[in-house]
Amino acid sequence: MRRVIITGGNLAEATAEAAGALRAGALVALPTETVYGLAADAVNGEAVARIFAAKGRPRFNPLICHVTGVGMARRYGELDGRAETLAKAFWPGPLTIVVPLAPGAPVHPLVTAGLPSVAIRAPRGPAQALIAAYGGALAAPSANKSGRLSPTRAEHVAEQLGDEVALLLDGGPCEVGLESTIVALTGERPKLLRPGAIAAETIEAALGETLERAAFGEAIAAPGMLASHYAPLLPLRLDATALEPGEALLAFGSAEMSGADRAVAARNLSPAGDLIEAAANLFAHMAELDRSGAERIAVAPIPRHGLGEAINDRLRRAAAPRM
Ligand code: TXA
Ligand code: MG
Repeated sequence: MRRVIITGGNLAEATAEAAGALRAGALVALPTETVYGLAADAVNGEAVARIFAAKGRPRFNPLICHVTGVGMARRYGELDGRAETLAKAFWPGPLTIVVPLAPGAPVHPLVTAGLPSVAIRAPRGPAQALIAAYGGALAAPSANKSGRLSPTRAEHVAEQLGDEVALLLDGGPCEVGLESTIVALTGERPKLLRPGAIAAETIEAALGETLERAAFGEAIAAPGMLASHYAPLLPLRLDATALEPGEALLAFGSAEMSGADRAVAARNLSPAGDLIEAAANLFAHMAELDRSGAERIAVAPIPRHGLGEAINDRLRRAAAPRM
């Protein structure tokens, strides 16, 4: 960690420095009213990939886009009447809504894990001033290593992720200490995806409608079920070492695959063999090859260390037989 700034009394300095770090593609740990977040510029795919690398996440779970309020939220998602009602009632505050992704939204596909929906919330506290100063959404999961508790004090973040962030904004203990409640507004009925800081009953009262409840564990399983939402339409052939006729190629690294010159279309996740770059390119490249008119996508072997584990996990899900 290069620097810690205590936000109380120093907010202008903190936001200016944080905005600079974010613009440079670095990670910034920041306090929200719920828990500390590990933030990156939501349009910068490599910065977002670094979040997953820093957390040691074995999977690409979609991330929450943090905005200043309804106005900024509209750039990213399509807010219907229910979304507006909830935003008016609870923002800024610990409610996250999952809504359809707005056409042309300035958000990298790694943030949404390639889904046609996006999770959005407007946090309270210094995070809000920072997002306003930055002028765009910050993608941020909780600032803990994968599998560990969400951090509610700057010291927790320093201990777990001190080496991964350019800047840690210390806002003292978090006001709420529990993650935001997540409500999906992508279907007929609003659905509680994750219980959190705002009671479901309070949300139901504001909506005038009951929430469908996800089965226990389903909210956590949701990202693991993404294959059924977003898998390429074309079949995938993993760990390919030679290209077959009619195939498109998803390559990795500088080695030329035999038969590659006959590929219907080709994309390279990272010619330099960099797993961060590969993660940032994964969803966009798969979507492009999907539209190539090929019969199948052959995927070169991807190393399994670092972010390679999450990349291979996602590829395996995408290659799994469709229901
Ligand atoms: O309070 C919070 O929400 C904190 C602070 C930092 O804002 N953030 C947080 O993020 O808890 P994270 O990444 O630990 O949890 C976000 C949850 C994940 O379970 C993810 O699957 C879900 O949000 N999520 C994000 N986008 C989604 C989408 N498009 N559809 C369904 N679930 C989504
Ligand atoms: Mg978390």
